[in-house]
Amino acid sequence: MGERVLITGITGQDGSYLAEQLLAGGCEVFGMVRRSSTETFERIAHLRDRLTLVQADLLDQTSVLRALQQAEPVEVYNLAAQSFVPTSFSQPELTAQYTALGVTRMLEGIRTVDPKIRFYQASSSEMFGKALETPQNERTPFYPRSPYAVAKTYAHYLTVNYRESYGLFACAGILFNHESPRRGREFVTRKITDGVARIRHGLARELRLGNLDARRDWGFAPDYVRMMVQMLRRPSPDDYVIASGETHSVREFCEIAFARAGLDWREHVVTDPAFFRPAEVDLLVGDAGKARRDLGWEPTVGFRGLVETMVDADLARVAREVSGRQDGQR
Ligand code: NAP
Ligand code: GDD
Repeated sequence: MGERVLITGITGQDGSYLAEQLLAGGCEVFGMVRRSSTETFERIAHLRDRLTLVQADLLDQTSVLRALQQAEPVEVYNLAAQSFVPTSFSQPELTAQYTALGVTRMLEGIRTVDPKIRFYQASSSEMFGKALETPQNERTPFYPRSPYAVAKTYAHYLTVNYRESYGLFACAGILFNHESPRRGREFVTRKITDGVARIRHGLARELRLGNLDARRDWGFAPDYVRMMVQMLRRPSPDDYVIASGETHSVREFCEIAFARAGLDWREHVVTDPAFFRPAEVDLLVGDAGKARRDLGWEPTVGFRGLVETMVDADLARVAREVSGRQDGQR
């Protein structure tokens, strides 16, 4: 068996791709999962036999300590968080507990159990928020615009602080938006591609969205997850922006996604104020020059390829669901 690694948030989009990549690299992969009355293991179902799942919760320091003691990892990838920006406005306190203080618990756990453990923190381009310069790089000041982004900023600085205070091998990856067919369906990209598929198959007629003018730097999740591993395997810890360097609007995403299914987005997309945020991040675009130099960062999927991959996957999934229903009715 190879090196032991622990992933928090293994049931999420990134966690599932990271687990695949680390298993392929020969690691023994432990995943931290929280207790739930229904399992949320859909994204890792195909890996279950090859993973060891450890039950713990970011809200509970003792359980985090036990997870670290049980896994005895050389690397910890801290991906668990309340990651949806609108929920951070409706549940700001819980978001701070998971997304900010959860990181304190992980870092304290590492100091207690084994300070040699290498630690990856999932920082976010949302920290740039109302961006003070364009494009954004590792030196761009933060201006968070949501309780989620504020919590991530705390977590980011804490990671840097534990590196500087206690000499931990702690890295923060400042990742810009990354998507895939495994993206949660409430995030705008997947909401659009799922909506396109449902409209194409006659299950819906319209798609209600918020701010179509918002611009993001979108990439393909497996490309980004690869960089997490690269960061932890450098000779010394550092922080890196990972981004495509291109920015596109939600409207552009809609145009390409609907066209891929032979539809005109203007006939189906309805703007709904319910999906606007109390404070918006208008424009994100990253400068990943440092990652290109140090980590060999080179994305494999461009914007159009990403949109089309996601649409194709949702068209195929919804087609299977529709034919399953028809079989059931026969
Ligand atoms: P995601 O799909 O929302 O997954 C979040 C994960 O965190 C899930 O496995 C979830 O478990 C787990 N989790 C939430 N609260 C927990 C708790 N109290 N205890 C234990 N586990 C908990 O997120 P993602 O897109 O994979 O993103 C991974 C990380 O990167 C997140 O920290 C996110 O904020 C950050 N990030 C993401 C992006 C992006 O574009 N995707 C960009 C920058 C940073 P359940 O399955 O039980 O809910
Ligand atoms: N979710 C959603 N739903 N967003 C919408 C909608 C809608 O109906 N309509 C427009 N948008 C706009 C949002 O206002 C935002 O400007 C943009 O689409 C992207 O929203 P999300 O896909 O929800 O992602 P996010 O950028 O807020 O956050 C994601 O990326 C961050 C990295 O920058 C999440 O994955 C975060 O966890 C991550 O840190």
